[in-house]
Amino acid sequence: MPVAVAVPRDATVAVIGTGTMGCGIAQVAAQAGHRVRLFDTRLGAAERAQTGIAQTLSALAAKGKLDAAAADAAAARIVAVHALGDCVSARLVIEAIVEDLAEKRTLLRELEKVVTASTILASNTSSLSITALAAGLRFPGRVVGMHFFNPVPLMQLVEVVSGLATDDAVAESVAATAAAWGKQPVRAMSTPGFIVNRCARPFYGEALRLLAERAADVPTLDALMRDAGGFRMGAFELMDLIGNDVNLAVTRGVWQACYHDPRYAPSVLQEERVAAGRLGRKSGRGFYDYAEGASRPAPATLSPQPAPRRLVVLGELGIASPLVRRFDQAGVAVEQAPAHEAFPDGAIGVGDAVLALSDGRTATERGAASGVRNLVLFDLALDYARCNRLGVARADTCSIGTFEAVAGALQAAGIAVSAVDDVAGLVVLRTVAALANEAADAVTQGVASARDVDIALQKGVNYPRGPLQWADAIGVARVREVLVHLASHYGDDRYRLSPLIARRHAARAPLADAAP
Ligand code: NAI
Repeated sequence: MPVAVAVPRDATVAVIGTGTMGCGIAQVAAQAGHRVRLFDTRLGAAERAQTGIAQTLSALAAKGKLDAAAADAAAARIVAVHALGDCVSARLVIEAIVEDLAEKRTLLRELEKVVTASTILASNTSSLSITALAAGLRFPGRVVGMHFFNPVPLMQLVEVVSGLATDDAVAESVAATAAAWGKQPVRAMSTPGFIVNRCARPFYGEALRLLAERAADVPTLDALMRDAGGFRMGAFELMDLIGNDVNLAVTRGVWQACYHDPRYAPSVLQEERVAAGRLGRKSGRGFYDYAEGASRPAPATLSPQPAPRRLVVLGELGIASPLVRRFDQAGVAVEQAPAHEAFPDGAIGVGDAVLALSDGRTATERGAASGVRNLVLFDLALDYARCNRLGVARADTCSIGTFEAVAGALQAAGIAVSAVDDVAGLVVLRTVAALANEAADAVTQGVASARDVDIALQKGVNYPRGPLQWADAIGVARVREVLVHLASHYGDDRYRLSPLIARRHAARAPLADAAP
């Protein structure tokens, strides 16, 4: 196979559309050494972009983040032009105009008239089909998606998206170019949402469904995702930052493009926020209130409880094993009991505090199935050796006193406890299982390789771990079990098991190295 050749540094790059994304792309290309042509149909926009990028570069130099001479040289390489025809010398054209299929197709047709036959035509579209963009062109093989993330100079990920007609050599060259620009390219097939906007949907969808079921309030759900899950932001904080209107539009887009697959169904709760104008930070209110002086509500945290001397831990702890050491150090003796399907009467005393990692069933269902009335379930954490908060849920049959004893044990181990209603799969576990399931389906369907899906979610939306690697760390068997229980609990198609998870589980093989 020939080695992919990046567009040479001495070649000209044209950027069409000089809004937020176009400016960022032009800056990165110029910093990588290319001459850049900027074009925009809005009068004066390309000139303003040229000046703006030059100011950004000199501000970076003033802060010591960039060599002053390099900043000046990069700025000097950028030229605003007034006609598409001025882009004739470009080897790579990247369009970042309005997200409209007809507008982009018209632009590509016009471009074909002015550029050479070997010029690559890349689109920064985040939602349109690359196949549809290329259809009807004379050389559709040169059209490729080059999907940058905002803000372009800071975000490393670039999704290189192939439509049905895209030449492999073109996609490879664009990926090599992105790498030469200091970016992390991943390859994707043109399908709704590409990798990130599709595989990240459960992050929002599960949070909204948990809120709809009143599992916990907004700050508590966010705190669990941050403090236990290791995510930089909870889903509600992030939806407020992105804008609920924008986030809902992406969800709707993927949902509609996938023939209303319940996996991606929008939430009435978010629709209501949008209808009320509660778009998030930009409108001053979303799931949180951003008005001046408004206080940030605190997550629900249980008051300190006395620690019990003895705690029964039910079933294999697996990834949660570091908890035992933390209990030991706190002076709480842990008795580990195997996960029998049904305990003989009296094996576990009525007064015993019994703790288990969620397997996707509610505590009440699992307690009833195994004959343990006092069951308390805990949620997933990214790192049980260090986490400082965990979500817990008690079976309806568990007494408050026993629940408080379990909470006391966790608190003694240095973990704040957030009580969650007894929902299936709790919060972090259910979200991570759903993310892994979606990622596995993307791999099953050949959208991208397992490696690229994991990279995309780490670099594109800052997840602490790729969902497939994370599922491997949790154990494919447990993730599968959680999904099977969720599917049976809800009885809808949303949690249907990805064929890849079923197969890798049967083969006792990890998910993260699965071939596309
Ligand atoms: P923007 O609205 O900031 O800029 C679009 C620019 O394109 C404007 O300056 C407009 O005058 C110009 N334009 C419109 N039609 C044109 C035409 N026919 N020829 C030349 N110029 C034209 O938009 P933004 O946010 O920069 O987005 C651009 C593209 O990047 C869209 O396809 C969007 O979906 C995609 N994108 C946006 C991201 C974001 O966070 N804003 C992230 C990733 C992709």
